[in-house]
Amino acid sequence: MSQNREQWGSKIGFILAASGSAVGIGNIWKYPSIAGENGGGAFTIVYLACILIVGLSIVVAEFVIGRKTQLSPVGAFEQLAPKTNWKWVGYLGVAAAFVILSFYGVVGGWILKYIVDSFSGGFIELSGNTKAAEATFNSFITSTLSPLIYQIIFMGLCIFVIIKGVKGGIEKWSKIMMPLIVVLLGALAIRGMTLDGGMAGISFLFNPRFEDLTASAIVLALGHSFFTVSLGMGTMITYGSYLNKKQNLVTSALWVIFLDTAIALLAGVAIFTTVFALGADPAQGPGLIFVILPSIFPQIAGGTVWATMFFVLLFMAALTSAISILEVVTAYFIDQKGWSRKKATVQFGGIITIVGVFCSLSLGAEVIDGNGQDVGHGINLTGFLGMSFFDFMDKLSAKYMLPIGGMLTAIFILKKWGLTNYMSELKIGMDKMDLSSLLVRALLTISASIVAFIIFNEIYFQITGKALIG
Ligand code: PFF
Repeated sequence: MSQNREQWGSKIGFILAASGSAVGIGNIWKYPSIAGENGGGAFTIVYLACILIVGLSIVVAEFVIGRKTQLSPVGAFEQLAPKTNWKWVGYLGVAAAFVILSFYGVVGGWILKYIVDSFSGGFIELSGNTKAAEATFNSFITSTLSPLIYQIIFMGLCIFVIIKGVKGGIEKWSKIMMPLIVVLLGALAIRGMTLDGGMAGISFLFNPRFEDLTASAIVLALGHSFFTVSLGMGTMITYGSYLNKKQNLVTSALWVIFLDTAIALLAGVAIFTTVFALGADPAQGPGLIFVILPSIFPQIAGGTVWATMFFVLLFMAALTSAISILEVVTAYFIDQKGWSRKKATVQFGGIITIVGVFCSLSLGAEVIDGNGQDVGHGINLTGFLGMSFFDFMDKLSAKYMLPIGGMLTAIFILKKWGLTNYMSELKIGMDKMDLSSLLVRALLTISASIVAFIIFNEIYFQITGKALIG
């Protein structure tokens, strides 16, 4: 273990930082919108199963690799399997960090803009008018300068936290923001449930409608379970590398998964109770947060305050996730290239922001006006990629990079590092817990196989146009 490697200041600090990474836009924006579209409670059951089987075993695996090696992903795989190609799993993680943070930073910027708008009473004119809310959102995200300014501010905050280091930056801010997220979301959920007709939202979210649960929804639930727990790109390896040997990695992982799931469900409750109480459309997909909510919040008493609270908590969730992504890149340059934290963070935070600029501008490439004319002005790669650069980066990471990284991590333990070595590191810090290596092997094997199938299914679909399932 390197003598001067930064360490977490406390057990709880580590758990809050790791769950800060997990809890993000994926929980508060993606989960409710995809659950709403895909069978409500039925989707939620599949999602919970995926997280408990695949999510849990790979979070633990990443923590173990990080704590054992005290290194970020590239160095970690190199140390455990010297002179082999396994270090490429680490490089895949660093690449995924670039891809994810470039578009995540753009959405972080949108959230900042919505805090400003809600606080300044800008939602009032959208009250009850989904069309107007949609037009406002679309014209904002497809415009050139304004989203970039907010994106740069968001990335600047991210860089600011990371420069301060593990304990003084990531841990300090996670300890402030995570409890605040829970309190604000709890208040919003109670508000929603006490609105007339709000409880119908709960039954929408939790009553399983198996007839709406298609095979592709199952695939979606699995893919999302990686994204939501920040798996497959070495984030949890990096966070685990700042741990000493006292922490119980299984209970820590259970905490992370519990908080991640609880916050996703709470977000679902807060959103759907409000949506149902006001008779809005629950199956709006991505538009749920940026279109539906701004049009319904002004209709409830104290709407400006509630809306601002919502976007502030969404911002905090986004920031604690974004910093964990930037930390993967920063830690790589510190560990492998010997750079200072400041140099690595500023340079690569800057480069990722520039890639993000292209994501943002790609949304304005094709804008159809009221007369059916294309008045777009952004960077158009759609012809080349078949989708906007923004969507491309989203799909590339969620559908391929994270699942492949997670699958390879499980295979690495089973086939290369060996279960015996893995178990002996895992058991450190777990005095009272007895863990059967048979169970661990089974969970890792099941996880790797399910993910392998999903990736194969996706590639098969891309080639033949027909999926095996979904
Ligand atoms: N878990 C985050 C979310 O749900 O929004 C996204 C994320 C963060 C993915 C960190 C990957 C990662 F390494």
